[in-house]
Amino acid sequence: MDADELTRAVWDISEDEFPAASSLEEQAEFLLRYAILAPSSHNSQPWQFTVRDETIELSYDEARWLEVADRDKRELFISVGCALENLCTAAEHFDVGYEVTYRAGEDGDVVSTVTLESDSEPSSKRPPELFDELTARYTSHQLFEDQPLPQETRDQFRRVIEADDVTLYLIDDPDEKRSIGELQAEADEAQMADPAYRKELGYWVGTGALGSSWLMARIGQAVVSHFDLGEREGRKNSKLIERAPAIALLTTHDDTPTARVKTGQVFERLALLASAADVAVHPMSQILERPEMRSALAAEAAIGDEVPQQLFRLGYTEEERTHTPRWPLEAVSLTEQ
Ligand SMILES: Cc1cc2nc3c(=O)[nH]c(=O)nc-3n(C[C@H](O)[C@H](O)[C@H](O)COP(=O)(O)O)c2cc1C
Repeated sequence: MDADELTRAVWDISEDEFPAASSLEEQAEFLLRYAILAPSSHNSQPWQFTVRDETIELSYDEARWLEVADRDKRELFISVGCALENLCTAAEHFDVGYEVTYRAGEDGDVVSTVTLESDSEPSSKRPPELFDELTARYTSHQLFEDQPLPQETRDQFRRVIEADDVTLYLIDDPDEKRSIGELQAEADEAQMADPAYRKELGYWVGTGALGSSWLMARIGQAVVSHFDLGEREGRKNSKLIERAPAIALLTTHDDTPTARVKTGQVFERLALLASAADVAVHPMSQILERPEMRSALAAEAAIGDEVPQQLFRLGYTEEERTHTPRWPLEAVSLTEQ
């Protein structure tokens, strides 16, 4: 993938351009413009799409897999799951019916197949207001304000994922947050002490995918690649965790590729709902990237036999929303034009 092609122009989509009178194939191409706005770890955007008639095949591109940070492809499948969720949300908005078949781990790099239908059934799990958030959602890295998450928001979060095989834990006990903050500091130090991890992170910073201008991206790449900033990063991140009003943890019963894809769908749905409620979202993956710390987190959060999949902060900030760039759809579509 060519870093020069990364663009923010993809965020401007006019919904009036939806080709309502055209074939399902053309409609699929339009819906995918929303899929590519999904979040992904390091903004690696590891998705690929192939449209054949009314069928969209979602696969991952191993070249965009974070092979050092994400050894077991957990973040990769979660990221593709986020793109799948955007696709479903957009399809429902435009009254396009669809059926999702999960295929992750069974058929090479194929993750799922989405078959579009002209007749649509209303969905109960995706409130209509989520659609507008597809082009508004962003990840925040700020220290959140000292303002609790209202019970109503917590209830809404639980309601929209009720029917899914993914469980949400909301942690706000100060002692528990402190312990998770300590784990985070340890994880940051361990990851940053690994030159291969720093090199990989430096590469993604250098592409500009994480949002800085070209020059800042190059300086960032040099700093991240050559210096072990683990202790500083750990101190900063543990404070971000301790001071957040709530830490969310998504867990699944199994630890299969499809369970991770479904985690991605649930995470993105919650991120869109949070965006609608002006709640900022910040995933933090370093603990989950180290197997021993992932187990320590499971024990700390008392989740029994469940497996931790995605950890993120929730809270409030006055920060201005800014979008990170994306590769345009043409760059990630394998469909022959
Ligand atoms: C599976 C996954 C893991 C992520 N892990 C982190 C993380 O550890 N730290 C972080 O700051 N952001 C993390 N993010 C957020 C991405 O960096 C962010 O989605 C990406 O840069 C695109 O920006 P946007 O979400 O503002 O569109 C993660 C996102 C996903 C989907």
